[in-house]
Amino acid sequence: EEGLHPPKFPWEHTKLTRTFDHQALRRGFHVYREVCAACHSISRIPYRKFVGSLMTVDEAKAMAEEQEYDTDPNDEGEIEKRPGKLSDYMLPPYQNDEAARAANNGALPPDLSLIVKARHGGCDYVFALLTGYPEEPPAGAVVQSGLNFNPYFPGTGIGMPKQLFDGLVDYEDGTPATASQMAKDVVEFLNWTAEPEADERKKMGWKVMAITTVLFGLSVWVKRYKWATIK
Ligand code: HEM
Repeated sequence: EEGLHPPKFPWEHTKLTRTFDHQALRRGFHVYREVCAACHSISRIPYRKFVGSLMTVDEAKAMAEEQEYDTDPNDEGEIEKRPGKLSDYMLPPYQNDEAARAANNGALPPDLSLIVKARHGGCDYVFALLTGYPEEPPAGAVVQSGLNFNPYFPGTGIGMPKQLFDGLVDYEDGTPATASQMAKDVVEFLNWTAEPEADERKKMGWKVMAITTVLFGLSVWVKRYKWATIK
């Protein structure tokens, strides 16, 4: 059963002439860390990825060092704890899927690294999902116990309760943290986790277009020059 079609939103960061808004990415990551990270991993993102796009090297290092990782076994086969470093990947909230389901009424919170690419509707879908929980299910709707009504979720009964409420986080840049602002920011962040190289790709695309245009012009000129004596 398909969910309600999400409205199309005018995302700036998906435009060919635009790049990710780094302030928005920082805010979106803030939302991810303070809200979503309790249940969802972003397992494809190492700390080093944040450098440049979202933070300084020192900020990323400090964030990595807050977490503990296992060392490789030494000669005696002992494993110890060490602070994280830039090359480490972000830790998941649960040990395994079993623990994740146990904490969520049997539902499995998916890894969010690629969710914007994996779900039909992409950014529009995730935004609509996050902001689309009605106060009460519509009259006549059947909602299984342990599930929450959300018209955008295929089947309408979702294991994830409403997450975003006005004022839930405090943004460092002073942006008012309304539910829709947080949803917008976290969606842009999750688009970045799915395509961290998108900005580079767009810039490269423009360079390719520029060089191709010059070469084409040059080839037209050479052709005319070579054939000038013939006609
Ligand atoms: C599912 C996003 C916070 C628990 C999902 C899905 C997305 C998502 C995109 C997938 C829906 C689908 O399969 O189409 C987010 C974001 C969050 C957030 C962006 C932060 C703003 C949380 C939190 C929890 C949670 C804090 C736990 C308390 C779940 C569960 C599912 C889920 C259990 C699976 C639902 C099901 O399959 O029925 N979430 N989530 N989420 N989320 Fe979250």
